[in-house]
Amino acid sequence: MKTTWWKAEEPGAVEQAGKLLREGGLVAIPTETVYGLAANAWDSTAVEGIFAAKGRPQDNPLIIHIARESQVQELAAAVPALAQKLFQAFWPGPLTVVLPKSSRVPSQVSGNLPTVAVRFPSHPVAQAVIQAAGVPLAAPSANRSGRPSPTSAQHVWEDLSGRIAGILDGGSCPVGVESTVVSLAQDTPRLLRPGSITVEQLRAVIGEVDVDPAVLSPLQKETAASSPGMKYQHYAPLARVILVEGPYAAYRDFVNSHAGPGVAALCYEGEQEGLRTDTVCFGREQDASGQARALFDALRQLDARGIRIAYARCPRQEGIGLAVYNRLLRAAGFEVIHIG
Ligand code: TXA
Ligand code: MG
Repeated sequence: MKTTWWKAEEPGAVEQAGKLLREGGLVAIPTETVYGLAANAWDSTAVEGIFAAKGRPQDNPLIIHIARESQVQELAAAVPALAQKLFQAFWPGPLTVVLPKSSRVPSQVSGNLPTVAVRFPSHPVAQAVIQAAGVPLAAPSANRSGRPSPTSAQHVWEDLSGRIAGILDGGSCPVGVESTVVSLAQDTPRLLRPGSITVEQLRAVIGEVDVDPAVLSPLQKETAASSPGMKYQHYAPLARVILVEGPYAAYRDFVNSHAGPGVAALCYEGEQEGLRTDTVCFGREQDASGQARALFDALRQLDARGIRIAYARCPRQEGIGLAVYNRLLRAAGFEVIHIG
């Protein structure tokens, strides 16, 4: 299949992408978090195409993207009062809410779960293309399954060219990590995936929020995943990533004593000088938002440079830092070394 690359600002690009989507095609679209691989959510054949293009396990459900808050009524069987509060506070924006699913949503979208995940993105191109399509869009991140999520059209091209109809290029994604996912499908709201909307922000609006244990630890074999995505190895570059927890001086000494061919430091900006290895940076130490923006591109750079082992600085687990830490932990397959 020939994949078309449109610049979002090209005249007619958004309309063409919208038409293709409405008619069952697969198009990668920019959002404020990461690029999504979109299909018409009502079209189960188109949705099956997403799983095939990504190589995604069938039981991992998709998020449905809307461009008007009222569209949630067609997707969810019930919209509780807490959901309304979340929409008012955070939509449009990088928050996905899991609700009981309406019978209209194809089972392919929800991985046969009784729930559906809904998000109203704030990115102007995402909103324009959803409107142009005239239908809600099911869209996972637009990477090959298991690869780091794409934060630029180039990343999408690397993973999916020849497998999808088009890519709508809206530049780099301003947030850089996927949306916060909160489930309202049980008694107490539950954070399933941390993102740039923090658990502290959620609690300020809806009160008690549990943090799913899978946010910070590997899923135990006996337990069912609340969010099926959490059971798969995610965000993983080919390189083996090892998180190194401790102060900079101890990190530097550790990395320098482990230097060698194919070894790299995944460090903060400004730390390259002291390190006698290849380095790839992901933002500044005090800037968790900058780390979020840079992380997935940094993971892809490791592979582009043929790195075998990357020793990564360990982000602070506060605010959006929790999301950065969560993604890095998964990239590292939960391999963490404590030093200093
Ligand atoms: O920022 C984002 O959320 C991006 C952009 C494109 O919107 N999308 C994204 O989709 O990250 P994906 O498919 O890569 O991640 C969706 C996550 C998965 O971990 C999935 O298991 C979970 O949301 N999820 C989807 N539907 C669910 C449901 N009904 N119940 C629980 N978890 C669900
Ligand atoms: Mg994904």
